Amino acid sequence: MKNTKNFNIRRDIHKYGNDILHSKNFLSSNKNIQHSDVSVMKHSIKVAYASMWLNRKLHLHCKERELARGALLHDYFLYDWHSPEHCGLKNLHGFYHPGIALKNAAKEYKLTDRERNIIGSHMWPLTFRHIPTCREAWVVTAADKYISTIESLRLNKLHKFIKKKVRA
Ligand SMILES: [Fe+2]
Ligand SMILES: [Fe+2]
Repeated sequence: MKNTKNFNIRRDIHKYGNDILHSKNFLSSNKNIQHSDVSVMKHSIKVAYASMWLNRKLHLHCKERELARGALLHDYFLYDWHSPEHCGLKNLHGFYHPGIALKNAAKEYKLTDRERNIIGSHMWPLTFRHIPTCREAWVVTAADKYISTIESLRLNKLHKFIKKKVRA
């Protein structure tokens, strides 16, 4: 039962976000590192997986298509934030990348208001004026912090478990 549920999450992320998952720009984010040895692409898929899992486990009744697509695009900033031109005090990646991701995503996809809110507010409370205003955005904000903590602290056991489930 548990495996069937997990399999369905993977299948449904592909169903809802197939165009994103196979797009040139999304695939190119696999060369940019997010945390430790995890790429931005894999991080985004993990956040989508964790968001869908949370939604189903806690019966949050989120709009799943928007939840999955918003999560896949939440870090769609499309540059290497560790490179000298993008890191440091001048660039403040943590503060600005949700806005850049939103701009990039809006250029390529017809975003709903929920998807816009997910992408633009996922760093809250760091970006304190961009507050999650729908449950989908709250779920992605929580999932992103959870996954980012695992990746940054290299909590390998959990990390491997999620990696196995995602198989990105
Ligand atoms: Fe982010
Ligand atoms: Fe993220």
